[in-house]
Amino acid sequence: MAPVSACFVTRALPGPALERLAQRHETTVWPGELPPSPVELRTELARSGAEALICTVSDRVDAEALDAAPRLRAIANYAVGYDNIDIAAAQARGIAVGNTPDVLTDATADLAFALLLAAARRIPEGIARVREGRWVTWEPSRDLGAAVYGATLGIIGGGRIGAAVARRAEGFAMTVLVHSRRTETTFVELLERSDFVSLHCPLTDETRNLIDDRALARMKPTAILVNTSRGGVVDQGALAQALHEGRIGGAALDVTDPEPLPADHPLLAAPHLIVLPHVGSATVAAREAMTALAVENVLAALDGAPMPHPVGT
Ligand code: DGY
Repeated sequence: MAPVSACFVTRALPGPALERLAQRHETTVWPGELPPSPVELRTELARSGAEALICTVSDRVDAEALDAAPRLRAIANYAVGYDNIDIAAAQARGIAVGNTPDVLTDATADLAFALLLAAARRIPEGIARVREGRWVTWEPSRDLGAAVYGATLGIIGGGRIGAAVARRAEGFAMTVLVHSRRTETTFVELLERSDFVSLHCPLTDETRNLIDDRALARMKPTAILVNTSRGGVVDQGALAQALHEGRIGGAALDVTDPEPLPADHPLLAAPHLIVLPHVGSATVAAREAMTALAVENVLAALDGAPMPHPVGT
């Protein structure tokens, strides 16, 4: 059995799995209700002499953070996306990096579909009108939304979550177009034909601002954009302008750049916009399973074994 190592966990995580880590290794969980700042992260990594780190999407694990942790051997990201970690810098230092795939696929696909339906049927506006006492009568021509059943859904990204959204779309008799490295539908064709465009690609140099002014101009004026991937995939300035000018029908975002989005951020003034606070994986089952996968990754790496869920290999 491997000797006891120092592990630093940047947030309290749901479920019993963290206990398994604490039974084997010296585990420090950041006690704050907010994530550690970059300075606090570096300080804690240095102070604890961390050999393993479990971090979340809120933590930027860059070369500077890694320099503060010369003993670090393992990083387990509590997420499937890992754009918050400088993978090249970790690899250069021989640090194994892992993530939490699969277990959040259905939760995130459910949320993407919930956002699609909410935006199509203008659900937040209706809720607000009822709560604010503005429900005056049954309206023949008010609150008219977009039909989902039988519509065309464009999915950008050929991974597990996109595929899970496509399965949900079958129940709504939707025509599904997928644009990825492995499919023939081009980006422009997908944008031009889709009534709904749902983003399921990782944030990389290639996908940053993928949905920019030119992409938005290709979408139908009635189309709704759904983003449960990463905020950086959308040029938010261009999106706000397209919404203000009625050049697309609406947008429903679970992710933004930055996160959190300040309440006075100009994007929030745009019409026909839903923004959620990055809750795609937020079910009890998914989040507890994510803890288990992160712990498995750390335990394996500290035992000198390959991580069961590695990234960047
Ligand atoms: C992920 O896993 O990448 C989500 O964004 C957070 O659960």
